[in-house]
Amino acid sequence: MPTTGYSFAARTIHWTMAILILSTIPVGFLMVQSGLERTLQNALFIYHKNLGVLLLLLVVLRIGYRLWNPPPPLPTDLPRWQARAAGFSHLGLYVLMVVMPVAGYVRVRAGDFPIETLDAMGVPALVPPSDAVADVAKLVHEYAAYALTALVIVHISAALYHAAIRRDGVFSRMWPAGRRQSR
Ligand code: HEM
Ligand code: HEM
Repeated sequence: MPTTGYSFAARTIHWTMAILILSTIPVGFLMVQSGLERTLQNALFIYHKNLGVLLLLLVVLRIGYRLWNPPPPLPTDLPRWQARAAGFSHLGLYVLMVVMPVAGYVRVRAGDFPIETLDAMGVPALVPPSDAVADVAKLVHEYAAYALTALVIVHISAALYHAAIRRDGVFSRMWPAGRRQSR
């Protein structure tokens, strides 16, 4: 069943963010392990925090773009429940892509820790130091990380299901070299 694809801009931002998130998640889980060598742990934290802030900027841009450029319609022969599941899971991914960096930012700023790139640019902290706020943000960041990891696994499995089993063009409409569309 032929479908039209996502625009070049939508694919570019999807894959840029996908690659960054797929590295940010394991780095996050790794850097909180006890017994890590100090220099390595510091480097992982610097990578994680600064990339996380970049991801927040990207998701704001992405949501703005998507509001003005709705995605192409799904194939009409896709079962209704699968279309709904796709809609809910994409919404969940967007919510978590916002919650994760915001909670991480609040956790770090309320904990009075640096965010190197923002500090170098002289961007002031938007959250005052507070142990209570830092603790709540840390919990939110941790549980949202589990939810995001689970949803990403479901998402990639669904994408592969479309690519290998249904072969309905849903995978190639997001794949960088897949079928193009004009709008
Ligand atoms: C999409 C963006 C992000 C993702 C996917 C992500 C993911 C993760 C994951 C999987 C962990 C390990 C789970 C845990 O124990 O909490 C973690 C921990 C952490 N993240 Fe993020 N993160 C993101 C953004 C940020 C940002 C923007 C900051 C700060 C500027 C940040 C700061 C931290 C800190 C400080 C920890 C350690 C939590 C602690 O134990 O104190 N993260 N992150
Ligand atoms: C190997 C990894 C990945 C593959 C193969 C993949 C594949 C796809 C495909 C085929 C679509 C189009 C689905 C459709 O047309 O209904 C899509 C959409 C989407 N993907 Fe991924 N994806 C991957 C990683 C990620 C990651 C890590 C995230 C974010 C956490 C993500 C977030 C999204 C979102 C939010 C959409 C919906 C786009 C929209 O309609 O606005 N993807 N992905």
